[in-house]
Amino acid sequence: MKIEKGIILAGGSGSRLYPLTLASNKQLLPIYDKPVIYYPLTTLMLARIRDILIISSPRDLPSIKALLGNGDNIGVHFEYAIQESPNGLPEAFILGEKFISNQSVAMILGDNFFHGQGLSATVYNTAQDFSGAHIFTYTVEDPQRYGIVTLDADQKVLSLEEKPKNPQSNIAVTGLYYFDGTVSARSKNLSPSLRGELEIVDLIKSYMDEGQLTATQLGRGYVWLDAGTPKSLLDASQYVEVIQSRQGHIIACPEEVAWRMGFIDSEYFEKFIRSLPNSKYKEYLARLIQ
Ligand code: G1P
Repeated sequence: MKIEKGIILAGGSGSRLYPLTLASNKQLLPIYDKPVIYYPLTTLMLARIRDILIISSPRDLPSIKALLGNGDNIGVHFEYAIQESPNGLPEAFILGEKFISNQSVAMILGDNFFHGQGLSATVYNTAQDFSGAHIFTYTVEDPQRYGIVTLDADQKVLSLEEKPKNPQSNIAVTGLYYFDGTVSARSKNLSPSLRGELEIVDLIKSYMDEGQLTATQLGRGYVWLDAGTPKSLLDASQYVEVIQSRQGHIIACPEEVAWRMGFIDSEYFEKFIRSLPNSKYKEYLARLIQ
C-alpha cells in the first residue's frame, strides 16, 4: 500500500507547558528559529506526502491556518479540521474520515521532531510498502512518558502499553504512524480508556492482534525529540542551534524541502523568496538558489 495522505494532529491542551500554552498553541512555540509544527510537517514532506489534514482546537486552528495557509507556496495541499476537545489521538481518524476516504494514511503528532541521515528514505520507502499498521520505535531513557513496546528478535511487536508505571522495555512508540484504509472504522470501534480518551495504543493493538503490525526501529543515528515539556523544547532548540550553526544547513525548512523534492520549481521559489521580509531565513533561502 502506498501512502499519499497525512494528518498532523496539532491539538492537545499543552498542559505540561503551562503557562507557555495559556494563550498559544504548543505547535506554534519555537524550536530555536521556527515553529514546532515545521518539524513534523517536513517529515511528512520527506515521505512525499503532499495531501495533508491539520487538526487542532477551535482556539488554535485559526493561528495555525494563518501560519501555513493553503500550502501553495510549498507545493502541498492543506485541509483543516477542528477537534472540539482532546478526546484522544484516534479521534483524528474519525474527524478525518472523509479526508482519508478509506485510503492509507500517515499521522504525525504536531510536537514530534525526527532528524538523521537517511530519514527521508526510511519514511518514504516504508510508506510505499506496508500493510495494516506500521510504527517507528526509538530507545529512550524515560519510558514512563511514552507508549512502550516489547519486540522479539525479528522486530515483531509482542506487547504495547501506554505510559507504563513499570515499563517492560525502553523502546518507545514515536508519534509517526502509518495505517491502512480501515483506520477510521477501527477508531470508531474503540472505547474510551479510564482517563476518558480514545487511546492510540488500543488502535495499534487492534492491528497487532490480527498480525497486521510492523515496526521500524530508528537506531541511535537518528534523533527523535518531542516538544511536550519546557525541557524537551529547550533540548530540541539547542540541538537545532548546534547542528545549524555547525553545518550552515537549516533543519526542517519547508520551503527548502519543497524545492529540493521538486514540489515547486526554481522560478516559483525565487518569486516566493523575493516576497519574504528581510531576515536570516530569507538570506538562507536566497543562498540556496544562487
Ligand atoms: C503520545 C502517545 C504515546 C507516544 C507519544 C509520542 O503521547 O500517546 O504513545 O509515545 O505521543 O510522542 P503524548 O505525548 O501525547 O502524551
